[in-house]
Amino acid sequence: MIDRRFLCCSLFTLLVLIVAFAGLFSPTAILSPLGPSTLFAQDLKPLDKPPAGQTFVGEKVCSSCHFDQSLTWRKTKHAKGFEVLTEKYRTDKSCLKCHTTGFEEETGFKSVEATPALVGTSCEACHGPGSKHAETAKQFTGKELSDAQKKYVGSSIYRTQPKNVCVGCHLAQGHKKHPEYVKEEAK
Ligand code: HEC
Ligand code: HEC
Ligand code: HEC
Ligand code: HEC
Repeated sequence: MIDRRFLCCSLFTLLVLIVAFAGLFSPTAILSPLGPSTLFAQDLKPLDKPPAGQTFVGEKVCSSCHFDQSLTWRKTKHAKGFEVLTEKYRTDKSCLKCHTTGFEEETGFKSVEATPALVGTSCEACHGPGSKHAETAKQFTGKELSDAQKKYVGSSIYRTQPKNVCVGCHLAQGHKKHPEYVKEEAK
């Protein structure tokens, strides 16, 4: 015959285990170290526009999550936009605005030594600086995102920056000429 106290005790233990186990996998438990207040369902509405004050993080950070886009970008001339400059133009301010990413912005390109991940026309030249987007996305690392979560994360960066970002550099496709420079093969 089973002791009633034993049965009662085991049931209680089982209950505690179930609660603990469920807690381990509930969204709040997973997200709590990262600030659950920003991630509850009612907060997961897409933002009206990407948050202000983002800093440039560089292509490598973006590529760590966006592998496919990174591969296609690498094959474009944009990825080589700095390499086409010969040595003397690599420090020429009149070239860097278009041949690097975020030149003359506070956290943008400074020099190839200081900001190697911002050479050429990299991700953030078209999508805008993405530090807060990366932080937002990191909260979901290793998880399969729901559609609402994807929209929420996606809304923290520009799909393409407004005001036709391409034209900021591609003046020569309008009525202007590309700036004059001495043509020689870049090494
Ligand atoms: C920690 C991972 C992570 C990092 C780092 C990251 N992203 Fe994302 N990004 C995501 C996720 C997740 C989404 C939403 C996924 C979806 O829509 O399928 C997203 C969406 C986007 C979108 C689509 C926006 C839209 O309107 O649909 C763009 C553009 C983008 N990211 C660019 C970038 C750029 C540029 C960087 C670097 C500054 C970057 N991402 C860094 C995970 C990341
Ligand atoms: C207003 C933006 C802008 C500035 C400033 C600029 N470039 Fe360019 N550059 C471009 C674009 C855009 C292209 C791609 C071709 C095109 O659309 O004209 C390009 C292409 C090039 C190429 C490749 C040409 C080829 O034949 O493949 C070289 C080399 C180059 N630029 C050098 C320079 C140098 C040197 C300077 C500074 C004296 C400079 N650029 C300043 C936007 C610019
Ligand atoms: C020359 C501009 C340009 C550069 C550089 C660029 N992108 Fe994009 N990207 C775009 C445009 C334009 C779209 C929008 C395509 C659309 O709306 O269908 C886009 C879309 C995306 C998307 C949304 C999903 C998709 O494939 O449509 C992601 C994610 C993304 N880019 C990430 C990146 C990353 C990461 C890099 C750097 C490795 C990068 N982009 C570099 C212009 C650029
Ligand atoms: C930050 C400046 C910048 C922005 C923004 C930019 N580009 Fe470019 N683009 C360049 C430069 C510089 C080159 C030339 C790179 C080289 O020759 O290696 C180039 C090259 C190209 C080429 C190849 C041209 C050729 O002669 O083969 C195409 C196509 C192009 N860009 C399209 C776009 C589109 C579309 C957008 C917007 C979604 C865009 N670019 C945004 C700077 C820019």
